[in-house]
Amino acid sequence: MKRFYFLVLLIGVIMASIFIRGFSKETNQVKLPPPKTESNFSLEKAIASRRSIRDFSSKPIKIEELSQILWAAYGKNKYGKITTPSAGALYPLKIYVICLNIEGLKKGLYLYQPLQHALIFISDFNLEKKLAKSCLGQKWVEEAAANIIICANYEITTSHYGERGKRYVQIEVGHAAQNIYLQVEALGLGTVAVGAFIDANVKNMLGLKEEPLYIMPIGKKNE
Ligand SMILES: Cc1cc2nc3c(=O)[nH]c(=O)nc-3n(C[C@H](O)[C@H](O)[C@H](O)COP(=O)(O)O)c2cc1C
Repeated sequence: MKRFYFLVLLIGVIMASIFIRGFSKETNQVKLPPPKTESNFSLEKAIASRRSIRDFSSKPIKIEELSQILWAAYGKNKYGKITTPSAGALYPLKIYVICLNIEGLKKGLYLYQPLQHALIFISDFNLEKKLAKSCLGQKWVEEAAANIIICANYEITTSHYGERGKRYVQIEVGHAAQNIYLQVEALGLGTVAVGAFIDANVKNMLGLKEEPLYIMPIGKKNE
């Protein structure tokens, strides 16, 4: 019986240490803090006050804030589906994040895993200047605390809907981007949807298989 209790205690300690650190070396996975589904900031207020922000402070943002924004963009909702609608529920989007200045997260390129609400660390990233250059010199890309890159695998949707699938994928990117705008506003942070960039450069720099469609720098507003 003693052995059983010891085993339970040991498993508990291991689980707790994984949870506290949130990072597994084996899988390169960082578990994100659970998102909130309620706040005192109304949706109406977020819609009324949303605007594009291009002037970011050099202060970091919290991992909880990044977690909340990624969840809003493409996380799991209460039905076990995704927070944004998707033609045929095919979910062709992939959300990458370049973390530059996030408290508790090392700088690097990550992939968001919606169902696990986790990030997979892919590589170190020190190319923010080059990234901004690929965005035709938009300096807010390099000054942000993070850049969310909304990418798509067109094939997932076109294999089902043919040519029309391309339209559906691009519409879906807009859904995710608007959720980011509104969640960022509700958190008192700033973002801007960047569509002007050289596709091939961004794709090569990040080693992406998918097509990058939007880059959304996020950070604290410089006020
Ligand atoms: C498809 C699309 C592409 C955009 N690309 C850029 C961009 O590359 N750089 C930028 O600073 N803003 C970009 N914007 C943001 C617009 O400039 C911005 O939404 C517009 O000026 C209206 O301002 P508001 O968002 O503050 O209401 C883009 C917006 C959309 C919808």
